[in-house]
Amino acid sequence: MENHQLVLVLDFGGQYNQLIARRVREHNVYCEVKPYKTSIEEIKALNPIGIIFTGGPNSVYEEKSPKCDPALFELGVPVLGICYGCQLMAHTLGGEVTAAQEDTAREYGKTETFYNTDCKLFKGLPEQGISWMSHGDYMAKVPEGFELVAHTDMCPTAAIADEKRGFYGVQYHPEVNHTENGSLMLKNFLYEVCHAKGDWTMGDYKNSSIKAIREKVGDGKVLLALSGGVDSSVAAALLAEAVGNQLTCVFVDHGLMRKNEGDEVEAAFSKWDINLIRMNEEDAFLGALKGLTDPEDKRKAIGAQFIRTFEKMGKQIGEQVGKIDYLAQGTIYPDVIESGKDDAAVIKSHHNVGGLPDFVDFKEIIEPLRRLFKDEVRQLGIELGLPEELVWRQPFPGPGLAIRVIGEITEEKLSILREADAIFREEMHLAGLDRTTSQYFAALTNMRSVGVMGDERTYDYAIALRAVQTQDFMTATWSRIDWELLDKVSSRIVGEVKHINRVLYDITSKPTATVEFE
Ligand code: XMP
Repeated sequence: MENHQLVLVLDFGGQYNQLIARRVREHNVYCEVKPYKTSIEEIKALNPIGIIFTGGPNSVYEEKSPKCDPALFELGVPVLGICYGCQLMAHTLGGEVTAAQEDTAREYGKTETFYNTDCKLFKGLPEQGISWMSHGDYMAKVPEGFELVAHTDMCPTAAIADEKRGFYGVQYHPEVNHTENGSLMLKNFLYEVCHAKGDWTMGDYKNSSIKAIREKVGDGKVLLALSGGVDSSVAAALLAEAVGNQLTCVFVDHGLMRKNEGDEVEAAFSKWDINLIRMNEEDAFLGALKGLTDPEDKRKAIGAQFIRTFEKMGKQIGEQVGKIDYLAQGTIYPDVIESGKDDAAVIKSHHNVGGLPDFVDFKEIIEPLRRLFKDEVRQLGIELGLPEELVWRQPFPGPGLAIRVIGEITEEKLSILREADAIFREEMHLAGLDRTTSQYFAALTNMRSVGVMGDERTYDYAIALRAVQTQDFMTATWSRIDWELLDKVSSRIVGEVKHINRVLYDITSKPTATVEFE
């Protein structure tokens, strides 16, 4: 990234370190996160236009807490300290940080904050707003040359600044959404203080990732299990662009995909010269599911069949491709933080590919999306030329439609569901709701009821439509979809899909329901 201005995020163990990096990238400035121990020589060599200190769980006055080299403040480079980073800056430059007493400022959560808008950091912002606080320590004395530029009712030092030297510190977290205008404060730091040019784009990220992959892989072979979901598809496209036919993608079509999904995935990758092994395992999976009605039994049968399929796949890869050097995965940043620690993710990733490592002997895992958030992954997918339908695909469970057909799975039921689901998805897209609804789909209930069509009595299935809004899928609320739209979807489904005579809309949230039906 030699050609781009760089902002360095020094990581002091805060939980939002990558979020800060992402906010910086959002403002078109290239950004790297490095450990706080990074040497001053290395920092100089990176030639950053600005440095951001993250928060962290420690207290600066403890002997063992992470510190920075004081020489960092002699580089003539602006510094923004966030939370612990702010206290560290104060501590290092001669201020005094102590544990907050009852009557001084220990603050957690949303806090009314007052800003001095003459300060560059707050230029163009309202003088008052909510900030997100999470600190038990307090700056009893700020270093010489610093002014107090924001305060709360409890804390006079919500933000400090030495504008001459370009040093800023904020007690709150501007990187989280709870802080009103937090992103603009970061933008002000980048553009008003560090004089960023805004010379970085996702296209650059694509190019530098491709370069890094090529350097790492050399003439080695890479294997990627393609599920058809957004993350694995974007990872595959990036690798395809980087190493072409050194990449083998295996795509298991278990016959439980949505309408045309398997063909769409295959078509999306046809423009690259990669080895795409599509395993059409519909018969095997449907055979394994035959006669099963209990949701847990169905899931177990699918899991067991996946293992058998992976065994077969291992053999096929061995015969067709030979030795594999790298296993690539579409792990994205939220998967990494979910497991708590950065380096814990590899263990989790092994589980993600269910059994594959036992059959394929590879020397390393490549995870090119590890630093990206979901919407950045989508942006990268578009940049790589993947079709929008694929890039904007919503989450789809591993067991596929098997957990959206209640009771026994049959080919007929799957085909009814596919048609109804496709209509619902098409109408959601046409109504412009596809990108703002977290997940939506149809599920085929096992209930049949009486209806009338023309002059005929019918006795057919009821289909349920489900749409939810959620941040993390742990809880979800049902989407308040416009009735006119539901009416249109309902008319189309009963008119166009045979064997459905009733359409239901699910108005339960999670909890008590789950998102999926089984
Ligand atoms: P639930 O139904 O648990 O779903 O509220 C929450 C989210 O997880 C997805 N889901 C799955 N994903 N394998 C997966 O890969 C599964 O077995 C599975 N079950 C549920 C579901 O689609 C929703 O996004």
